[in-house]
Amino acid sequence: MPDFDFAPLLAPGLPPAAAKFTGFPKYNFTGGHNDAAELPLDDLVAAANAVLTREGRTLATYGLESGPQGYRPLREFLAQKLKRTAGIACDADDILITSGSLQALDLVNGILLSRGDTIVTELETYQGALNRWTRLGVNAVGIPLDGDGMRMDALAAVLEDLKRRDVQPKYIYTVPTVHNPTGTILSEARRHEMLELAERYSVPIFEDDCYADLIWDGKRPPALHALSRHGGVIHIGSFSKSIAPALRVGYIVAEWSLLARMLAIKTDAGSGALEQMVLGEFCPKHFDAHVPALTRGLRAKLETLMDALGEQFGTAAEFDDPKGGIFLWVKLPDEVDTLKLYQPALAAGVAINPGPEWTTDKAYGKSRTRLCFANASHEAIRAGIATLAEVCRREFGVPERIANVERARA
Ligand SMILES: Cc1ncc(COP(=O)(O)O)c(C=O)c1O
Repeated sequence: MPDFDFAPLLAPGLPPAAAKFTGFPKYNFTGGHNDAAELPLDDLVAAANAVLTREGRTLATYGLESGPQGYRPLREFLAQKLKRTAGIACDADDILITSGSLQALDLVNGILLSRGDTIVTELETYQGALNRWTRLGVNAVGIPLDGDGMRMDALAAVLEDLKRRDVQPKYIYTVPTVHNPTGTILSEARRHEMLELAERYSVPIFEDDCYADLIWDGKRPPALHALSRHGGVIHIGSFSKSIAPALRVGYIVAEWSLLARMLAIKTDAGSGALEQMVLGEFCPKHFDAHVPALTRGLRAKLETLMDALGEQFGTAAEFDDPKGGIFLWVKLPDEVDTLKLYQPALAAGVAINPGPEWTTDKAYGKSRTRLCFANASHEAIRAGIATLAEVCRREFGVPERIANVERARA
C-alpha cells in the first residue's frame, strides 16, 4: 500500500471518520432496517424484468425520458397514492424523487438553512435530522410530546418566546404520523393547531412522513400538507420503510418554485434510475396488498418485543405501545446510562440505539433507548432482550429480577 498521508490535507470541520463495517451484530435492534421475510421479492423480480424488457433502453440517457424530477410513472403513482391515503392534492410535477428521504432532508436544509439558524422540532427526534442540524450549526429547539404527538401548548410557548427574542425559526420539522422514535401519531385536532400556529408565526412546516403507511389500524390522518390552507408545508416520504431501505428511493412534495431551487442544488445528475423503474412498475399493482401484510408482521414482532421486555426487565422497562412503525422507545431506570450500556451490550452481540442520540435534550435521553424490532426474528428478539437484560444488570444493577429470578447479592 502506498503511504501517502492525506491527513494534513483534509478539509477542516469534517465529521469524525466512519467506522468500518464488520458485519451486523447478532441481535440488531438499531437503525431502520426492514423485515427481510416480508420483502415482496417475487413481485419485485417480475417488475424489474417487465420494466427493463419494455423500456430498459431509456437508461441510456440521464434521467431516463422523465427528466431530473425522477421516473414519471413512479411520480404518477405517488401523486394518486398521496391523494388517496393522505389527502394531498398534487400531481407528478409537484414531486421530486430523491436518493432516500435523507437526500430530501439535505435538499430542504440546503435551500433554507444557514449557520446560526434556529429550527423547532419534537423533543425526541430523528438522529439523521439532528446530526444534520449539528453539522450545519443550526440550533434545534425541542418540543415535548405526549400520546397525541407534539404538544401544541408547548409549541405555542416556544414560538412566542422565540418571537420575543427576535428569532425567526426557519421551519418546524415534524414526523407527525408514526413519530420516530416514540411511535405516536399527531392527532387531527393538533394538526389544525400546528398549522394555525405556523401561519400565525409565519413558519413553514417540514413534514417527514416516512412511516405513515405502517399504522396498525391503517387509519392515517390527513397529512399536514393536505390540511394547509396557506401552502407552507414541505412534505417528504420514502419507500425505505414500506418496501426496502437499500433501494434508496424517497421523495419531496412541494410547489415548483421550491423544487426548482432544490433541483439546482441536487448535483447528482439524477437519483438511481433502476430502483425507480422497478418501484414504478411494482407499486401500482402490489403496494396496497403488500403494506398490510408487512404491517401485520411488524405488529407481531412488536408483541414479541414487548413481551420479552416484560419478561426480562419487568417494571424496569417502561414504554407506550406505539401506533405503528418499527421502533419501541424504552425508558430504563434512571441509573442506566444507555450511552454506557451501548459498548458492553454490543460486545455481547446486542446493538441498541442510545437515547441521547434521538433527542434535543441529551440528559432526557440518558436512560432511554430506541429498539428497532423489524429486522430481528422472533427468536432473536427474545434472545437479544434476555442478553441485554443480563448486560444491563451486570453494568447498572438493574433489572433486579430477570425472568423472575432475583439478582444474586454479593
Ligand atoms: C424520520 C426519518 N426520516 C428520514 C429517514 C431516512 O430514510 P431514507 O433515507 O432511507 O428514506 C428516516 C430513516 O430512518 C427516518 O426515520
